[in-house]
Amino acid sequence: MKIAFARPAWPKTGTLAVGVLAGRKFAPGAAALDRRTKGALARALRASRFDGKVGQTLSVLAPRGIGNGRVVLVGLGKPDKLDALAAQRAGGALVAHLADSGEATVGVAVDLAPNLAAHIALGARLRAYRFDKYRTTQKREEKPGLRALTLLIDEAAAARRAFAPLASTAAAVSRVRDLVNEPANVVHPRSFAAEAQKLAALDIEADVLGSKALRERGLNAMLGVAQGSANEPQLVILRWSGAGKSDAPVAFVGKGVTFDTGGISIKPAAGMEEMKGDMAGAGAVLGVLQALAARRARVNAVGLCAMVENMPSGTAQRPGDVVRSASGQTIEVVDTDAEGRLVLSDALWYAQDRFKPRAMIDLATLTGSIVTALGHEYAGLFSNDEALGRQLVAAGEATGERLWPMPFGEEYDERIKSDIADMKNDGGRWGDSINAAVLLKRFVGKTAWAHLDIAGVAWTDADLPTAPKGATGFGVRLLDRFVADNFEP
Ligand code: BES
Ligand code: MN
Ligand code: ZN
Repeated sequence: MKIAFARPAWPKTGTLAVGVLAGRKFAPGAAALDRRTKGALARALRASRFDGKVGQTLSVLAPRGIGNGRVVLVGLGKPDKLDALAAQRAGGALVAHLADSGEATVGVAVDLAPNLAAHIALGARLRAYRFDKYRTTQKREEKPGLRALTLLIDEAAAARRAFAPLASTAAAVSRVRDLVNEPANVVHPRSFAAEAQKLAALDIEADVLGSKALRERGLNAMLGVAQGSANEPQLVILRWSGAGKSDAPVAFVGKGVTFDTGGISIKPAAGMEEMKGDMAGAGAVLGVLQALAARRARVNAVGLCAMVENMPSGTAQRPGDVVRSASGQTIEVVDTDAEGRLVLSDALWYAQDRFKPRAMIDLATLTGSIVTALGHEYAGLFSNDEALGRQLVAAGEATGERLWPMPFGEEYDERIKSDIADMKNDGGRWGDSINAAVLLKRFVGKTAWAHLDIAGVAWTDADLPTAPKGATGFGVRLLDRFVADNFEP
């Protein structure tokens, strides 16, 4: 979908969208249009339940007095609550409303400041995302309708300027959604690494460690997970250098299990296909690096994507196997389906050991337990550094990618005691998202670190205001904002 900004010379045909505030209050554009249509908009309002809440829309078809076939009323909510997130929701709702309408273009005149107009456009862009490259026989009525959206605003140049960085964030979100939506026969460790190498176009350096390099460096916990798969594991290391050479980087580490069968502790068949999305953490890391580079962020950042496939086979790791991780600590693998924490234990250790980051954030679709605890509204936040945790929570509130702090003190250590090794990778059913975080904590040294368990938010089974169902791209907006607010001059 094309997005443009233009000064309001109103199109005489096609669809027009205008804003309505809470309590059915017309914004100026809507009021003017209502007069020109001899009160058609007001009458339509009275005949409906539309009352101007954010996310509501109402189409008025063929009102008299104008040539436009359709006027869409877009709810903007209460003026004092009309922030960037509300504007994004309104833009998303408009796109969703017009998706099946048969309309190809829309002119949007909602009477907002340039910055909010830009966020309307961002919401529209995010909601218009589609993953339909594999549909070869799409029915006409299923085809996306809307091709172009033009925001009509006096300060068109300012709005366009405000939209530019948002558009590159949206592009990064779409990239992540694509990677997560792709099936596991297409996105596997090697192809993911190849995709990451394309970021060279943005001056991101990529290094890839294959199984030989991983063995030399002792990342045996990660290798153990990969050993049942025909696909070679890859530790993809991305570097964006936007600050001085001597500045320690911010590190992002992502769980990249391109398919999680559970291994020998195999998962039930029902719903297993969802486990193609078990690399959403690694996807988000790639996306954050892309977003930072695209806007030339004045920060040094490294992204580590720990890519493996968890398969059962004659070479697969067995329940009860003990691995010696890169840190030297040993782990008894009592459940091969608790593989994410094994992969991350090595990736986190390697990241802090090699890059000495000033802060380290990992993202992982780590546990079903976090979905039980928080549902799909919040990701779980575990941090060994209070200030870092607060910064992340704030970035989450600002971007709508929200985080909820979880406890994981020493009282939980008992849960992962092993009879024969330093720890085991499964602490039983209760509080498993915490058991996992307690294990990870042992692999970050003294680094300020936060772990985001995104199992409940990386994927959505129903359309959301700014995400159609499928992969959400969670983490890109959050961490781009986190860097902008805390690590850039
Ligand atoms: N990848 C899963 C977690 C997951 C569950 C992600 C649902 C997205 C949606 C993870 O590797 C896993 O299998 N975790 C197990 C751990 C258990 C065996 C200790 C779980 O949560 O059941
Ligand atoms: Mn698993
Ligand atoms: Zn997994």
